[in-house]
Amino acid sequence: MKQQISKPQGKLGVLIVGMNGAVATTFIAGTMAVRKGMGVPVGSLTQMGTIRIGRRIENNFPKIKDFLPLYELDQLVFGGWDINDESALDGTKTAEVLNEKDINKVADELATLRPMKAVFDKEFVKKLDGNWVKKANTKMELMEMLRNDIRQFKADNHCDDMIVIWCASTEVYTPIQEVHSSIEKFEEGMRNNNLAIAPSMLYAWAALLEGVPFINGAPNLTIDTPAAFQLAEKLHVPIAGKDFKTGQTLVKTTIAPMLKMRMLGLEGWFSTNILGNRDGEVLDDPGSFKTKEESKLSVIESILQPELYPELYKNYYHKVRINYYPPRKDNKEGWDNIDIFGWLGYPMQIKIDFLCRDSILAAPIALDLVLLMNLAQRVGFYGIQEWLSFYFKSPLHSPDVVPEHDIFIQHIKLKNTMREIMDEEPITHLDEKIKQFK
Ligand SMILES: NC(=O)c1ccc[n+]([C@@H]2O[C@H](COP(=O)([O-])OP(=O)(O)OC[C@H]3O[C@@H](n4cnc5c(N)ncnc54)[C@H](O)[C@@H]3O)[C@@H](O)[C@H]2O)c1
Repeated sequence: MKQQISKPQGKLGVLIVGMNGAVATTFIAGTMAVRKGMGVPVGSLTQMGTIRIGRRIENNFPKIKDFLPLYELDQLVFGGWDINDESALDGTKTAEVLNEKDINKVADELATLRPMKAVFDKEFVKKLDGNWVKKANTKMELMEMLRNDIRQFKADNHCDDMIVIWCASTEVYTPIQEVHSSIEKFEEGMRNNNLAIAPSMLYAWAALLEGVPFINGAPNLTIDTPAAFQLAEKLHVPIAGKDFKTGQTLVKTTIAPMLKMRMLGLEGWFSTNILGNRDGEVLDDPGSFKTKEESKLSVIESILQPELYPELYKNYYHKVRINYYPPRKDNKEGWDNIDIFGWLGYPMQIKIDFLCRDSILAAPIALDLVLLMNLAQRVGFYGIQEWLSFYFKSPLHSPDVVPEHDIFIQHIKLKNTMREIMDEEPITHLDEKIKQFK
């Protein structure tokens, strides 16, 4: 595979849906600061991580960014869509994630960045209103307008490659319906303004038709439909999602494998969060919360496999709550109370209080995904990128396999895929001595 790819020389256009939101502006401002040498990209595996190549005795641990032919940060050109006509500087200030000192480092650059008009439907995000919104008679026309935006941006900014990433608000829960079942039905649905076609689906459709990889950072269905899978396969475009794995789920997918590896039982897991940013306000609406809840609940079940270990995991109680609490802004507090049991059924408890910063955790994930999805496209990968499950709460997976939520397995899968891309041997961690005994 290695022979086909070289370090890209041109520019990568990064179009962000929800460009002026907390995650997006923290990602953009942070990347701008890092490339000016005024910040450290903490949390980004592509920028800070290393990868072992060869046997342990070779002691070869290059940085991932030196090992893989990724775009450099100063080759990224940002743009995107949002529902109000304000600059990314205004968006960054409103988000109240970064302090004034950090914003000032890149304020000039942020001030020049303005969103394109969004495709927005209040039915899908009840708590927001926007005045910078496209108008057309059909969803098909709106989708075509988005395609045009992508083409125009690419031409205006002389980009060689493009990526679209959804960092916009969580849309209300939409179950899969007939209209999502095939390319033909979806296209007909766009022409007929089918109510089950959300704005996020139109952005994704437009990206795919333009041959642009699409990443979904929120829990909405978006590309998690047979129609989108078929289109991505047909047009050979990579897709990845959904819902960035940041705070509480990061903790859950770390602790749950520990319980299972040690065969410890689970009686109950109660998770509650308080957060006060706009995302928290949107999630205060029951429709949007249901989308998030579905994304968060499936994680433990899939890791613990109660069907294989009924004595340990058959009857546990799992509850997830998100409470909007404005004083905390973007600084979420996530509590987990975990009731477990050990030898002969004796009960024990684990309590975790994670005082995290949502967008500070999400920004490096967005950066890694943008760079790795572009690499995926350049090496010829297409369809669902399961090797990027590491970054998501509800990883997209093909219908014939169960999703992989265990962060340790996800991490091995991610790094072995990086090795495979560069024609290096995957690492199995098998002891050399064991082979001699056979
Ligand atoms: N921060 C995290 O840790 C985290 C983790 C996982 C997922 N997410 C998801 O990422 C998304 C963004 O989170 P946030 O904290 O930045 O929220 P935010 O409310 O600060 O930003 C969302 C932005 O999207 C815009 N928007 C809404 N609908 C749009 C549309 N149809 N087109 C264009 N723009 C639109 C809003 O105007 C806003 O600027 C949410 O869906 C959230 O659930 C965040």
